[in-house]
Amino acid sequence: MTQKGIFRNTIGALTLTLSMGIIAETAAYADEGMWLPSLISQRIGDMQSKGFRLSAEDIYSVNQASLKDAVVLFGRGCTGEVISAEGLLLTNHHCGYGQIQKHSSVEHDYLRDGFWAMSRKEELPNKGLSVSFLERMEDVTSVILEGYTPELTEAQRDSIVNVNSKQLIKEVTAEGKGLRATVESLYYGNQYFLFLYREYGDVRLVGAPPSSIGKFGGDTDNWMWPRDFSIFRIYADKDNNPAEYSEDNVPYTPKRFFKISLGGVREGDFTFVYGFPGRTQEYIMSEGVRYVSEISDPAKIALRTMRLDTQKKYMSESQKVRIQYSSKNAGVANAWKKWQGEMKGINRLGTVSAKQEYEKRFAKWAEGTEYSTILPRLDSLYGALEPYTFAREYYSETAASVELCSFAGSVAKKLAGGDNEGAAALSEAFYKDYYLPIDKESFVATMSAFAKDVPEKFHPEYMKKELAKYGSVSNWADALFGESLFTDADKVAKLEAADSAAMYADPAVRFANEFRKWYASDVYPYEKRLNREITLLYRDYMRGQMEFEPKKAFFPDANLTLRVAYGSISGYSPADGTYYKPQSTLEGIMEKDNPEIFDYDIPQRLRDIYAAKDYGQWAITGDNGKKTVPVCFIATNHTSGGNSGSPVINKDGNLIGLNFDRVWEGTMSDIEFDPDYCRNISLDIRYVLFTIDKLAGADHLLKEMVFVN
Ligand code: ARG
Ligand code: GLU
Repeated sequence: MTQKGIFRNTIGALTLTLSMGIIAETAAYADEGMWLPSLISQRIGDMQSKGFRLSAEDIYSVNQASLKDAVVLFGRGCTGEVISAEGLLLTNHHCGYGQIQKHSSVEHDYLRDGFWAMSRKEELPNKGLSVSFLERMEDVTSVILEGYTPELTEAQRDSIVNVNSKQLIKEVTAEGKGLRATVESLYYGNQYFLFLYREYGDVRLVGAPPSSIGKFGGDTDNWMWPRDFSIFRIYADKDNNPAEYSEDNVPYTPKRFFKISLGGVREGDFTFVYGFPGRTQEYIMSEGVRYVSEISDPAKIALRTMRLDTQKKYMSESQKVRIQYSSKNAGVANAWKKWQGEMKGINRLGTVSAKQEYEKRFAKWAEGTEYSTILPRLDSLYGALEPYTFAREYYSETAASVELCSFAGSVAKKLAGGDNEGAAALSEAFYKDYYLPIDKESFVATMSAFAKDVPEKFHPEYMKKELAKYGSVSNWADALFGESLFTDADKVAKLEAADSAAMYADPAVRFANEFRKWYASDVYPYEKRLNREITLLYRDYMRGQMEFEPKKAFFPDANLTLRVAYGSISGYSPADGTYYKPQSTLEGIMEKDNPEIFDYDIPQRLRDIYAAKDYGQWAITGDNGKKTVPVCFIATNHTSGGNSGSPVINKDGNLIGLNFDRVWEGTMSDIEFDPDYCRNISLDIRYVLFTIDKLAGADHLLKEMVFVN
């Protein structure tokens, strides 16, 4: 609660009470929202009216074990959940991908073949991987703004916020072992919340299906229905406290773990996703949305299409190149597909004009108030910002993505600093997965686009000179790739700190460094200053929007803190005449099975199981009356990147699935949620169990779990 008493009361998702003291009521919006667990009492009535049978205290409590104690931030960007009394943890295959890959070699290709620890001893430690349990969260606005008065400048306010945050973090983390805290600004700094985590640093890999199961459908089916999980176990010291890896550590005993529902899902069933969504921008003004949907997304999509086309061409010609570029390709393709859905969704919804309408009404209401000038000021700042953001985004999708140059720049820096080992490690990783023709063709395509599409004012002097010298981007590429010694692993291996003059003259290193210098001097400082001004105005605009619509329940934008999203199992119609049912089954996998296509080549064992209909207790009756196995389901929960691996919970608080994606047609939900199109995609927990039981033969893991109907 602020000094000025602006937020007198926080019932619900921060319902603003104006200085006059009108208490706002919360209105229910169709399944939109990522709510703060500690304030869930404000939504619980709505949740219960939609079928949920537990209480707010069951979801989040600081006094007793609650569902929050079974949910973790996995690493720094995914969610996971505890599913046994012995610290067994479920997350997505792509969330554990890095760990699975690190343990993989040609002899033990766990990525390809999968991995299952058949005993505790075989569980594999993962350096650098930790999971964080939320101990508690709390509104600390008054503590953080202690000492602030409105006469102070923004810089002074920042420094007060910093000092107070540090002090608070220091105090709360002194309370026990393995504690980590953050203070997060919500609603653009209108509110501050403390998040106190207990972080466990010994997390071992227990099992992962082969990629042909865990990543079935690859990038083609990404944002649709790849199905994806891996299993870990949290270890603790003998007092159950966080500890770094040690042989003496024992499986962690959770305060709470999820019981697993075998009851299955039906259209209309209540669902609740508990996890860590990363970033949304639900309250930005029309101008910000217009930039995303009309400028940024189309530009980035076009640039990535060029790179993906080149990759695809060479990957289909050679198995070696396919392996080398599979992970890079997945990275480029993931956002590429998301942006397409986002752009289409924003256009379909008419978000820009709807926001413009809203802004007109807001402006009228704001006449004569402190909010009257916000929108025109924001608008003009956006106008000033746009060319800088555009230049940065173009830079990042073009020059900064040239593999050879980024590599050369980093190696030169390491060598000049005497870090030969670091340089050798970089080189080893780089050359293993590098194919020059892809890089060079991408260079020609994307740098030509840069020269053509980025306004001349933003062309680095260096680039102008090179282009004048060589006459065309493709000649420039011939020279750069032809002359750089970084295309030759043996020559690079012989480089030493003493060669730094030669290194800095190398065309690949120069390219990287010149572009970096240009960005640091001509783009970044301006963009940063303008963004800061915009964020400050958003603090007021956000408050203004809350006063303007006092009955609306505002949830804070996602910021990788724990949130509750709830909705129901529901199909959708992505296009005229088409309807997607809410549940998919093994039949869909079998329809696509194709030994000729890498992403659709399932393990023979699954084919055998299918032929024998050997589904055991995991069988259900499909729509055609035949026996099958459930695989994925979709629902209306509002989720985002970071929600991968989140538990999907039923009306009784039991686990029915594992969130891993959204349908690509609904990815504009980071900006506007559309109940008709926005669906999160989850793996049916019964497919996880089927895989563990029938495919992996790791049924000892099932014995740890608790099943209910
Ligand atoms: N779409 C998933 C998410 O947004 C990523 C799945 C990873 N797999 C892939 N093929 N790129 O992060
Ligand atoms: N796959 C995403 C993740 O890694 C979740 C998809 C989404 O953006 O909803 O978190």
